[in-house]
Amino acid sequence: MTRPVGLTLPVDARPIRTDRLLLRPLTEADADDVYSYQSLPEAVRYLPWPLRDREESREHTLKRAGFTRLAADKDAIILAAELLGPDGEPGPVIGDLSIFLQSAVNAQVSIGWVFHPVRHGRGYATEAARAVLEFAFTDVGAHRVFAEVDPRNMASVALCLRLGMRLEALFLENEIFKGEWSDLSVYAILEREWGAGR
Ligand SMILES: CC(C)(COP(=O)(O)OP(=O)(O)OC[C@H]1O[C@@H](n2cnc3c(N)ncnc32)[C@H](O)[C@@H]1OP(=O)(O)O)[C@@H](O)C(=O)NCCC(=O)NCCS
Repeated sequence: MTRPVGLTLPVDARPIRTDRLLLRPLTEADADDVYSYQSLPEAVRYLPWPLRDREESREHTLKRAGFTRLAADKDAIILAAELLGPDGEPGPVIGDLSIFLQSAVNAQVSIGWVFHPVRHGRGYATEAARAVLEFAFTDVGAHRVFAEVDPRNMASVALCLRLGMRLEALFLENEIFKGEWSDLSVYAILEREWGAGR
């Protein structure tokens, strides 16, 4: 039996204000800020990104700047995390977050994140990811949101747990990632679990 379509599409990116951040679509003007973290080995260690030079990074940002709408499976929205000044004035982009529509019919969404290492340890990623989860559940209408994490990536694992995501699966040596067999953990949260924690 065909199941009813779970989501009302398309869903467009929109600016989201949190206490300290403005989450909004990436633009070409963010290329240098993105390069400042995308060029660091520690930032891309567990991301499916190579180390890019400035021009490659600019092209990558330009491409991702076009990801602003979820209309079909595998579409993505990329949001830049802009650090606001004390009076809410615009600031640098210190990281970015991805929202992937994995299955419209099953209302499944995945998320990802990266922040500049000098900005780690201050709760910015938690603040941004909470807002992105809220966006995924309210604007997108997700039933389940998951993140795929290399279990060695302890900061990302800790972030999942802070967000209330549960470990659902651990795949052992399921892929050769950056030249070595690597494990993959799946962390997830259901809409009702997110709602209960609001
Ligand atoms: C994953 C990643 C975003 C996590 O960054 P992070 O700095 O650990 O996360 P946060 O910004 O939420 O900061 C949390 C830390 O700040 C502390 N903190 C300070 N103020 C805080 C606040 N207001 N709210 C929450 N935490 C706060 C927390 O206690 C925590 O400290 P701890 O690391 O000592 O436990 C970061 O490691 C990263 O960008 N990694 C590279 C990219 C990557 O691997 N992405 C994931 C691929 S799956």
